[in-house]
Amino acid sequence: MSPSIVLQELQVERKRAGPALISLRGDHASAYRLWVVVVLAVIAISLVAVFLTRFRLSAIEAPGRLETSVANRGKRFFIERASRQGIPPPPKDKDRKSSIAQGDMLYGIDCSMCHGRDGRATTDMGRWMYPRAVDLTSAEAQSYSDRELFWTIKNGIRFSGMPAFGKVESDENIWNLVNFVRSLGAKPKNGG
Ligand code: HEC
Repeated sequence: MSPSIVLQELQVERKRAGPALISLRGDHASAYRLWVVVVLAVIAISLVAVFLTRFRLSAIEAPGRLETSVANRGKRFFIERASRQGIPPPPKDKDRKSSIAQGDMLYGIDCSMCHGRDGRATTDMGRWMYPRAVDLTSAEAQSYSDRELFWTIKNGIRFSGMPAFGKVESDENIWNLVNFVRSLGAKPKNGG
C-alpha cells in the first residue's frame, strides 16, 4: 500500500470511531454529574439533620449574630424596595406638633405594649419576642426614611412580631405615628 492509501484508510477509521469516542466522553460526563448530585444530596441531608437536632422552638434565646445580620439586611432591602411606590403624601394642612400629639396617643394604644412607652422596647412582651421588638429611639430604627416607617407601620414585618396596622389605622393616623416615632429619636437618652 502506498502511504497515501494508508492515510486515507486511517482517516476512514477515525471517522468510524468518532461517535463512539464522543459517547464515551458523554458517559463520563453523566457519571460525573451523578456523583456531584449524590455528594450534594448527602451534604444537604446532613445539614438538615444537624439543623433539626440543634433547632429549638424557644424564644428565650435572642437570635444569633449571623441570623440577625442576615435578617436585618433582608428586612432593609425589602422595606426600601417596597416603600418606593404607593406611599400617600402626609396631610399638608396639619401642623407637626398636633400630628405628633395624636401619634403619641395612638402609640400608647397600638405600640407601647411591645416597644415600651418611651420606645425603648423594655416591656416584658417586647423584650422576649423573637426577634426582639426594636428600640425605636435607636440610630438603627431612626435611620429609616419617613416613607419606610410609614410602609413598616402599615404593612408590618413578616416572620416577626411586628403587626400590620393598615387595616386598623387610617393613612392619616399612620403619618401621625410616623411623626411620633421620629420625635422619639430626637429625645436625649438615659432618661434625660
Ligand atoms: C406585638 C408587638 C408589636 C407591636 C404591637 C408593634 N410592634 Fe413594631 N416591631 C415589633 C417587633 C418584634 C419588631 C422587630 C421586627 C424585626 O426585627 O424584624 C418591630 C419593628 C418595628 C419597626 C422597624 C424597626 C427596625 O429596625 O426594623 C418599627 C418602625 C416599628 N416596629 C414601629 C411600630 C409602631 C409605630 C407600632 C404601633 C403602631 C408598632 N411597631 C407595634 C413588635 C411590635
